[in-house]
Amino acid sequence: MLYLIDSANLDAIRTCCEFYPVAGVTTNPTIVSREKSDFRELLLALRQIIGPERMLHVQTTATEAEEILREGEMIRSLVGDFYLKIPITREGLKATTMCKKHGIGVTMTAIFTQPQALLAARAGADFVAPYINRLDNIVSDGVRVVEEIVEIFTKYSIPTKVLAASFKNAEQVHKVAITGAHAVTINPDLFDTLIYHPLTYYAIDDFSKDWEMAYGDKKVSDLLG
Ligand code: G3P
Repeated sequence: MLYLIDSANLDAIRTCCEFYPVAGVTTNPTIVSREKSDFRELLLALRQIIGPERMLHVQTTATEAEEILREGEMIRSLVGDFYLKIPITREGLKATTMCKKHGIGVTMTAIFTQPQALLAARAGADFVAPYINRLDNIVSDGVRVVEEIVEIFTKYSIPTKVLAASFKNAEQVHKVAITGAHAVTINPDLFDTLIYHPLTYYAIDDFSKDWEMAYGDKKVSDLLG
């Protein structure tokens, strides 16, 4: 399962890319609006920070298929190959097929049900992005929805990948990993939460103390250098 950063905060993305095995960045209009910055400059900076290899998913704000395609082409001319995030609507499905014909990658987003995901896949979407926490918030089961989407795609040998989104805690990420989803996109803080365990800190502390008892302040490199 791949990890992407669900953020447009340049400092946070820079830090995550330095320390974590990040496969890319996803944004949406809400995430972008938080940065209060020039959109063109933001996209250029994002591509510059993550480099040409990592995936970049940027959402359209257009609602008509032709305009969605136009925005996709404009974004591509700015950042190179990327995935256009298109919310699932009738126009969005039409736009997905059009974008794919024009060589633009598509992530169909705001997915809340299995039938939405299957239709997005049939329209040619490269990724579908089901929202886990927003489903959990209304006493639905986000992980179960992802599980069934993965099951349907596997059953019908559908190449569309599942990029699960909208997480609030590590347990949701863990449960989605078990479903076989291809990727998750999470906020920068959740990366730190995913590696946190008090026993890890205790273990590291014990290693240091035991080493110090035997070798004082000498490091491995001092002893071998
Ligand atoms: O990419 C979609 C995701 O950002 C939604 O997350 O936390 O607003 O439910 P959230």
